[in-house]
Amino acid sequence: MKRKNIAIITGASSGLGLEFALQMDKIFHKMDEIWLIARRKERMTELAKLIEMPTKVIAMDVTDVNDMRAFGKILEIEDVTIRMLVNSAGFGLMGAFDSLSIEEQLDMLDVNCKALTRMTYYCIPYMQKNSRILQIASSAGFLPQKNFAVYAASKSYVLSFSRALREELRGRNIWVTAVCPGPVDTEFFDVAERSGSTLGLKKWTMVDVERVVREALLDSYDKKAISVCSLPIKSFHVMAKVIPHSWLLGIMNLLK
Ligand SMILES: NC(=O)c1ccc[n+]([C@@H]2O[C@H](COP(=O)([O-])OP(=O)(O)OC[C@H]3O[C@@H](n4cnc5c(N)ncnc54)[C@H](OP(=O)(O)O)[C@@H]3O)[C@@H](O)[C@H]2O)c1
Repeated sequence: MKRKNIAIITGASSGLGLEFALQMDKIFHKMDEIWLIARRKERMTELAKLIEMPTKVIAMDVTDVNDMRAFGKILEIEDVTIRMLVNSAGFGLMGAFDSLSIEEQLDMLDVNCKALTRMTYYCIPYMQKNSRILQIASSAGFLPQKNFAVYAASKSYVLSFSRALREELRGRNIWVTAVCPGPVDTEFFDVAERSGSTLGLKKWTMVDVERVVREALLDSYDKKAISVCSLPIKSFHVMAKVIPHSWLLGIMNLLK
């Protein structure tokens, strides 16, 4: 029997993950199924109704080792080919490191780094030539960020991991793209701003989710290592490469 070609999206109940599901549905008619993963099942069930392609809703916590083992079993039993993995589950917390709960910050590392790494590890054996991995990093990964310290560090991890993995998988024609958006208009800020506020400058560079996802899918198709959407964030990316970080951190200290 022919193996099913599937796409897996984590963080599919909201924001970027949800939008990836909607756009993939329009583009990838050859995919047999889209698997939606997040904790809020009702949200994904509603999303599934909007998608023409068959979907599988998997309500799970990506940081829960037992949930992940159960997910690994589903992969084994269904014997699928994963054409695309989008790791979008993640969250941020703003505020000074020592003013935030340490447990919540460690939870953030669990979702943004450990779960993404584990999910990638579980999925690679089911990938084939021309499969794609999109790791949702952030422009926050380009530079250390005061009052966003653990989040920015977590996204530097995602960016570094994605680029190294890309080189490891290149010979197998599996292509990894790190998606590094600046601020995107999603529920992300409902969580992130519970403990601190966003710089005015960041709000000014806010883009809509449709654009970020459209460009990320095109960049992944083009086998690009990094997807950066919008001119201000592209400029920030270049600056973070050529200007000493100590200078940029000094400039950021002057911004409100
Ligand atoms: N929005 C931005 O400005 C921005 C900018 C750059 C990068 N990013 C990154 O983009 C990714 C998506 O964020 P977003 O903007 O789409 O935010 P969002 O709308 O808040 O979506 C976050 C998603 O992650 C899922 N999630 C969180 N913890 C989870 C867990 N333990 N297990 C399973 N799923 C979990 C949530 O689902 P449940 O709550 O249902 O589990 C939700 O679907 C994140 O990695 C974020 O860091 C966002």
